[in-house]
Formats: sequence, C-alpha cells, structure tokens
Amino acid sequence: MKHKRELVFVCTGSDCKKAGAKAIRKHLKEDLKSGPLKGQCKLIQTKCMDLCKSAPVVIVGDHFCKKTDAEKVATILKKSLSNKLA
Ligand code: FES
Repeated sequence: MKHKRELVFVCTGSDCKKAGAKAIRKHLKEDLKSGPLKGQCKLIQTKCMDLCKSAPVVIVGDHFCKKTDAEKVATILKKSLSNKLA
C-alpha cells in the first residue's frame, strides 16, 4: 500500500523563528485545516536542524526548502502530493 500523506517538517529553532518560520507554520496549519491540502499532510515541528544560515528551513518529503516562505512551501507541497497520487 502506498502512503499518500506528506510529512512537512518546520524548524522552530530561534533563528528560523526570527526569519519567519512561525508565519509559515501558521499559514500551513490553516491550509491543512480547511484548504485543499486537508488530511493530506502531517505538520511536524522540529528543533534546530543546524542549517541556521539558511533560515527559515522547511522539509517537505525529500525536498529541503531553504530561505523559504509560505507560498513556496505550499507550491512544493502541492507538487509533491500530485507526484505521489500519480
Ligand atoms: S534554527 Fe532552524 S536550522 Fe537552526
């Protein structure tokens, strides 16, 4: 059986928080509650991943998103999910 849910790791270390990880997490949470991504992803908060120079850091499946924002993460997430379902 193929697993169709995507795991999204959002770093909540201090540098990522300062760089906007909180806003990304909030945006994703809203999308996962009621948007088209509902039930297709699992949002996981992590501690510092030792990539602080690239903050904020988000991992979507096997994609590392460095110096990212909520829109980029949502785009990668949708792409990744459509690849999984195909
Ligand atoms: S605080 Fe996010 S990688 Fe260090």
